[in-house]
Amino acid sequence: MTDNLTGSDRGKYAASKAALEFIKPGMKVGLGTGSTAAWFVQLLAGKVNSEGLDIVGVPTSSRTRDLAASLGIKLTTLEDAGWLDVTVDGADEFDANLNLIKGGGGALLQEKIVASASNQMVVISDGSKQVDTLGAFPLPIEVVKFGWRSTESTVEEVLEGADVANRRISLREENGAPYVTDEGHYILDLHLNRIGDPRGLAEALNRIPGVVETGLFVLMADTVLVGYEDGNVHTYDRDRGDLGRHKVHMPSKDSLYVPGA
Ligand code: 5RP
Repeated sequence: MTDNLTGSDRGKYAASKAALEFIKPGMKVGLGTGSTAAWFVQLLAGKVNSEGLDIVGVPTSSRTRDLAASLGIKLTTLEDAGWLDVTVDGADEFDANLNLIKGGGGALLQEKIVASASNQMVVISDGSKQVDTLGAFPLPIEVVKFGWRSTESTVEEVLEGADVANRRISLREENGAPYVTDEGHYILDLHLNRIGDPRGLAEALNRIPGVVETGLFVLMADTVLVGYEDGNVHTYDRDRGDLGRHKVHMPSKDSLYVPGA
């Protein structure tokens, strides 16, 4: 299982390890979704099980809930937790303003609700997610099933007036059928190539009836931790700017476990 670790995996591991520094005893912690977040969940479980770290997690997807539960992390729902101390999650892209595209893993709605209910959002990433301008990664938007083709047409109209480079839309599929989110919705992936005005686009899309939420996370991330293969982690803070690099300890390849994402 450890034979196929890529540089990207090691970067995700390093960022996840650095994110542990944000977790203190007694905290309520939002647990993101995706392969990077899965590294974090695994490392967090290690601290819970070996050091008795007392935290409670709120997962952002059924996948993360199953993974965290299987690793022995105490879980609750957002309803019961009410408000969280910190959420740690991955991203598909982030820019210099720490705006994000998320939702490649299809969990954007719960991820956004959980991050919005947190004092702090910490994003963990390998170096490949850092971009000058958002939009090379297709922007996911979650839409209700009812009338989704009409919603898609309205999205097309909105894109006509938007500062984007491309306007292709595709319905996300899985095993030949539309992908259905944990909340029972569809996802439209917007192939835009360049998003000139993330906030304006998010606001315009959110005004469309049928659009539940977009994968644009504007001014939500407080900190982005970018991990590299050699264990260096670069910290970007929304208020304090570029905080430079520090190194985390990287265990030998043989003691790294590849978690299911
Ligand atoms: C899931 C997400 C993920 O955080 C995003 O897709 C990044 O995933 P990965 O860590 O696997 O690259 O938004 O909805």
